[in-house]
Amino acid sequence: VQQLHAVADALNQTSDLDTLEGIDWDNFGFGLRPTDFMFVMKGDLEGNWQKGQLRPFGNLEVSPSAGVLNYGQGVFEGMKAYRTADDRILIFRPEENAMRMINGAERMSMPAPDVDTFVDAVKKTVLANKRWVPPTGKGSLYIRPLLIGTGPILGLAPAPEYTFLIYVSPVGTYFKGGLSPIDLKVETYFHRAAPGGTGGVKTISNYAPVLKTQLMAKGNGYSDVLYLDAIENKYVEEVSSCNIFMVKGKVISTPELAGTILPGITRKSIIQLARSRGYEVNERPVSVDELLAADEVFCTGTAVVVNPVGSITHGTNRVQYNNGAVGRVSQELYEALTTLQMGVSKDEFDWVVE
Ligand code: COI
Repeated sequence: VQQLHAVADALNQTSDLDTLEGIDWDNFGFGLRPTDFMFVMKGDLEGNWQKGQLRPFGNLEVSPSAGVLNYGQGVFEGMKAYRTADDRILIFRPEENAMRMINGAERMSMPAPDVDTFVDAVKKTVLANKRWVPPTGKGSLYIRPLLIGTGPILGLAPAPEYTFLIYVSPVGTYFKGGLSPIDLKVETYFHRAAPGGTGGVKTISNYAPVLKTQLMAKGNGYSDVLYLDAIENKYVEEVSSCNIFMVKGKVISTPELAGTILPGITRKSIIQLARSRGYEVNERPVSVDELLAADEVFCTGTAVVVNPVGSITHGTNRVQYNNGAVGRVSQELYEALTTLQMGVSKDEFDWVVE
């Protein structure tokens, strides 16, 4: 009852304040700005979910022996909502995120909400926070669905209880400096994933291990790290938080999904968009030498969208692309994707959900 009162109070406040005054929407980076509501739903190991609820955004209370705190049992998703020029709010391919969460949960021995429950919860959370969706053209509302083992467990086993939650935050561009080419450092000692591991699912436990290399690279002036395969140290895998593409002549190539690379929804969409625009796109092993000899390189991800790569450094070899300027193909695909996501161009694939 107390929770319902809190939600009702917060809803009354937001209806009075449909827009937010005094927010500098032009200067958002990719940081957390707490919003009004989060969605919370609890379930058991057998996948019996209680009814989910919107609650005021705030801290969770979990046991010190929660599965997620002790054994990293958790998966997450990243999505974005955009405001259109005529004030509608659009999300992008939400079923894809739902299915990826189901797949990741299976790998991490967790139950997951079904596709309809996931999509419905995303819509409810975005609508409850709609005043936080930036004005059209000024960024997006980042949506973070999270599925974690919150039940207490001591011996190594799946947690007895799970929490599915969604919170949101308005964001601008991911990398410092906005949509400008980034400088990548190829990591030759540490690896992000190995065959048979969890690199191909969006588990929370894939992300803390890349911080060390990312911090070292940033300390040396790079924007991020590019990982190689763990067997031959020769083939490109992905950047810490996004997939990678190269352009050579008229052909676009990206590392194939063989279990160690995150199956990005932006990656998949860019492949489809590029093919529909007449590009040949190959998913195949891409060696670091080939990448260094490419005409253009770019990264894709929900957070980064399509971000051009300005340079790649491999050992003592540094290659610059397009003299550090944004490449033609990156620019074209960035525009094709974002105009579609913002409802400016025709949604010929039926990807956008209002
Ligand atoms: C996303 O692109 O949504 C991600 O999940 C990357 C995250 C590490 C910021």
